[in-house]
Amino acid sequence: MMQAFYSLYLSLCRWKLYPRVLRDMSVMDLSTSVLGQKISMPVCVGATAMQRMAHADGETATAKACHAMGTGMMLSSWATSSIEEVAEAAPAGLHWLQLYVYKDREVTKSLVKRAERAGYKGIFVTVDTPFLGRRIDDVRNKFQLPPHLRLKNFSSSDLAFSSGKDFGENSGLAAYVAEAIDASVNWEDIKWLRGLTSLPIIMKGILRADDAKEAVKIGVNGILVSNHGARQLDGVPATIDVLPEIVEAVEGKVEVFLDGGVRKGTDVLKALALGAKAVFIGRPLVWGLVYQGEEGAKEVLQMLKEEFRLAMALTGCQRVEEIGRTLIRRHQVLLSKI
Ligand SMILES: Cc1cc2nc3c(=O)[nH]c(=O)nc-3n(C[C@H](O)[C@H](O)[C@H](O)COP(=O)(O)O)c2cc1C
Repeated sequence: MMQAFYSLYLSLCRWKLYPRVLRDMSVMDLSTSVLGQKISMPVCVGATAMQRMAHADGETATAKACHAMGTGMMLSSWATSSIEEVAEAAPAGLHWLQLYVYKDREVTKSLVKRAERAGYKGIFVTVDTPFLGRRIDDVRNKFQLPPHLRLKNFSSSDLAFSSGKDFGENSGLAAYVAEAIDASVNWEDIKWLRGLTSLPIIMKGILRADDAKEAVKIGVNGILVSNHGARQLDGVPATIDVLPEIVEAVEGKVEVFLDGGVRKGTDVLKALALGAKAVFIGRPLVWGLVYQGEEGAKEVLQMLKEEFRLAMALTGCQRVEEIGRTLIRRHQVLLSKI
């Protein structure tokens, strides 16, 4: 897994920026929109489960930090704060729900309906997880939630991952997924979801042009190019490397987003130059939460914003719409030397 993570980052380094000069950078505008919702910068927060393991305030701290920074937050189905608690923590904030499709379709449906009622602005359905990837540390540690926490979106202790069941030598989360999440999930289920809600639906976990085309055909509103932070399948490409072919495949019909390995302002700029509308961060936000809850999360977003502003200035872009393909080229790196 660690190797896969480094390869994500090294791939970002393979893309080189070709700055434009002498374009008056005294006034700049970093704002953009995601699915019609205005945000202060093209950096949003992706779904990371169980944030109260990182800080006692968990997802409610993230929601407040995102609102303060003028950006959106994707809440995990497996959050340790409920859909409603997050909406209450930042009532004017921009929230989306990340959805896992449960075997019990009534459970799945109720998550969507609760998100609608709580004012969420879209559903990111994760499509790369019929089973959980083999996360060797979670297996070794027989991962379970600490006893004071539960997955707050569910009432039964089994679905809340708080039953204290013995999962033997397995990761508790892998066993939870095998029990509760529908391994049979397929394109028909996305059509079912499409019929269930008028909220925008974004497919999270697309890495191929043919899947992207199929998604557009069945009427989704966006695609999040994601390899789940290299936590599902070993050997997948870095998202930045497949982004161009997916952008090309969807022919401008839906918005395309990217996550995975975004750590600096230049990473954001590279993704936008290759056609992403915005990027999502996973781990950096959790590091901020661990450091100092809401303040730490805000600091991470602030750092990325300032770095992105500088990257724009140094590539001659006053506005986000000016970030384009001519700014970036792919270089070959001899990985054997690293
Ligand atoms: C601790 C952790 C928990 C995650 N939980 C979820 C989740 O509940 N649902 C989901 O779709 N993706 C989940 N992801 C994947 C992220 O949404 C995202 O794809 C990935 O973290 C992006 O890469 P980055 O961490 O390099 O920014 C998780 C990732 C991490 C690191």
